Amino acid sequence: MLQSLKFYGTSIDILDQTKLPQEERWIHCTTAKEVARCIVDMNVRGAPAIGAAAAYGIAIAAQERKHFNAEDFVKSMNEVLDQMSQTRPTAVNLFWAIERMRGILNLPLATEEFVRRLVDEAEAIAREDIVVNRKIGENGETLIPSDARILTHCNTGTLATVEYGTALGVIRSAFAKGKVSQVYADETRPYLQGARLTAFELQAEHIPVTIVTDSMAGYLMQQNMVDLVIVGADRVASNGDTANKIGTYSLAVLANAHRIPFYVAAPMSTIDWSMTTGEAIEIEQRSSEEVLTFGGQRVAPLGVDALHPAFDVTPHRLITAIITENGVIHRPNSEAMKQLVKA
Ligand code: MRU
Repeated sequence: MLQSLKFYGTSIDILDQTKLPQEERWIHCTTAKEVARCIVDMNVRGAPAIGAAAAYGIAIAAQERKHFNAEDFVKSMNEVLDQMSQTRPTAVNLFWAIERMRGILNLPLATEEFVRRLVDEAEAIAREDIVVNRKIGENGETLIPSDARILTHCNTGTLATVEYGTALGVIRSAFAKGKVSQVYADETRPYLQGARLTAFELQAEHIPVTIVTDSMAGYLMQQNMVDLVIVGADRVASNGDTANKIGTYSLAVLANAHRIPFYVAAPMSTIDWSMTTGEAIEIEQRSSEEVLTFGGQRVAPLGVDALHPAFDVTPHRLITAIITENGVIHRPNSEAMKQLVKA
């Protein structure tokens, strides 16, 4: 299967997603700083993939510092963790992975043991992601009707995770059961994660995929061409409010107006229990250049500015169900979400 990251202990190869599908280029990183740069530049993107890449980057930094005494090691590693947390603000999986690594640094260990445990932890984060995604696929597949025509947004597949994917994992599982007749992939301006990455992944597995521009969703629903919408998440508040790729909220409003189910598929690591509502979620603001240009060419008149919030928040009342590895929460709200912790 396609991979987004390859870890070699003291280095990591990152598949450059900005070049796909035209070119399969791998970026070889030997320092945490290089990995952090790849996260900022979106060579690796998607909440779970960002978390795994950050953990690997931290593991590389640990190897680099294996000759430090324990005190200097911890001090220097905490600086690496801080640097990693400055990369992208919205996807909570990044901070979740960093905190797992920090948990080890808080133990009273010798440097050699720190290094071993940090490398093991990074590998565990990546390994667990694969298992979790398969389970999300299994849980979500039960919600998909036969002959389903599914609309999805951004890329939530193998490229956005370590393997298999979240929303795309549900689509994969449903397809394996013969239930998917059509996937509509929103192109997802301005990075075109849908047109470039989702289409690439689905085509490789012969899952029928058709690209639509983001603004076509309402038309498709009005024409009765969509049975359900399924998306991923970058951060889910404890009441179910969900931050995901810009345009997700518009889809949820449209789906609601057309009485079409709107599903969110995400691992437990994407739930931020410290946030009671989505209002407090920090929305990454990216460069306007990314909107003003297309394929490296400027399309807007010089001197005109653009906005570029990279995510938006969908209120829980617009979400039919949240699908996790721990189970499915129908009509999510603060009370219903608690069942996930008990599960
Ligand atoms: O800016 P990106 O490409 O990192 O945004 C990705 C998304 O919004 C995904 O939907 C989300 O991270 C879930 S990926 C399983």
